[in-house]
Amino acid sequence: MIVLGIESSCDETGVALYDSDAGLLGHLLHSQVDLHGPYGGVVPELASRDHVRKLIPLVDALLSKSGLQRADIDAVAYTRGPGLVGALLVGAAAGSSLAWALDVPVVGVHHMEGHLLAPMLDTERPDFPVVALLVSGGHTQLVEVQGVGRYRMLGESVDDAAGEAFDKTAKMLGLPYPGGPELAKLAQVGDPERFRFPRPMTDRPGLDFSFSGLKTFALNTWKGAEVQDEQLKADICRAFEDAVIDTLAIKCRRALKETGIGDLVLAGGVSANKRLRERMRQELQKLGGRAWYPQPQFCTDNGAMIAYAGCQRLLAGAGESGEFKVRARWPMEQLEAV
Ligand code: KG4
Ligand code: ZN
Repeated sequence: MIVLGIESSCDETGVALYDSDAGLLGHLLHSQVDLHGPYGGVVPELASRDHVRKLIPLVDALLSKSGLQRADIDAVAYTRGPGLVGALLVGAAAGSSLAWALDVPVVGVHHMEGHLLAPMLDTERPDFPVVALLVSGGHTQLVEVQGVGRYRMLGESVDDAAGEAFDKTAKMLGLPYPGGPELAKLAQVGDPERFRFPRPMTDRPGLDFSFSGLKTFALNTWKGAEVQDEQLKADICRAFEDAVIDTLAIKCRRALKETGIGDLVLAGGVSANKRLRERMRQELQKLGGRAWYPQPQFCTDNGAMIAYAGCQRLLAGAGESGEFKVRARWPMEQLEAV
C-alpha cells in the first residue's frame, strides 16, 4: 500500500510517499522560514496561505521525482492536529479532496504520534515498550508507549515547551528565527564553566517540566553583565542548553526507573540537537538500554512521519468517509490502540 503523507500543522509543508512493503519512497519539504523570518516568529495567517500555494505543487513534484502517478496512491494521511487550525485545514482539505477524487481511504494523523514513530522510518527500529521523550516547539512530553496508539502520559510541560524555550531565549538574545538551532550553534563556542542555570523541577518528585523560568534566568544574566559581547551570548547559550539537556536527562532516567522500561525514544524538533542526542545515547548506555532517535531530517516536521503513522493506522483498518475535523488541541491518550 502506497500512502501519501501530508504535514501542514505549522510552518513547514511536508509531503511523502510511504510504501507498506518497500518503506519510504520519497519526501519533500518546503520550509516557511524566509516567510516568517522578518516577523521573528510564525504568523498563522501567512502560514495557511503559503500551505495553500505550495501543497499541491509539492505533491506533484514528489510524484514525478518518485516516478509515480496520482493513480498509484492507495491512501492519504494528513495531520489532523494538534497545530495551527488554519494550517491544519489546508492539509485536511487537500488530503481529503485528493482521496475522494482517487476513491481511496484517508486518515487524519496525530502530529505527536507522527514524531513518536519517526524512528520507525529506519531499517533498525525499536521494539515496544519504550519510554518516549517528545520535545518539539509546542510540546514536551514523557510517554509510556506499549504499542502504536497505546500511550500513557507520564509527564509534560506546565508552561513553555522545550523548543519554545529555546526559541524565546534565542529571540531575546537577538538570534534570528527559528532560534533553537541558532542557539545550539552558538552554544558550541560557549564556556560551560561560566554560568550554571537551574534544573527546573528536578528537586521534587514527578515527571513534569517547566522551562519558562530558564528564559528569565538567561535574560537576567544578560542584563546583569557589565560587558554584553558575543562571548557572553555564547556562554549564556551554553548554560541554557546544558540546563535543558540535564533536566531532560534527569526526568528520562526517572521515567525509565518508574516504568521499568529499558529503551528510550527521543523525537520532535529538539531531538535534532546533537548534544541532546549524544547525552541520551550515553545515559541509556549506562543504564543498559538504548536511545533511539530519528534521522536529523525526520526530527523536525516532515511528511514522512505522517505517511508512516497513517500507514500503520490504515493497515489496522482506520479511515474516514465524507467529513473531516481538525484538532488544534488533541491529547494523545485519546487515540485508539492499533
Ligand atoms: O517538531 P518541530 O519541527 O515543530 C513542532 O512540532 O513544534 O519542532 C520545532 C522546534 C523549534 O522550537 C526549534 O527551535 C527546535 O524544534 N529545534 C531545536 C533544534 N532544531 C530544532 N532546538 C534545539 N536544538 C536544535 N538543533
Ligand atoms: Zn512537530
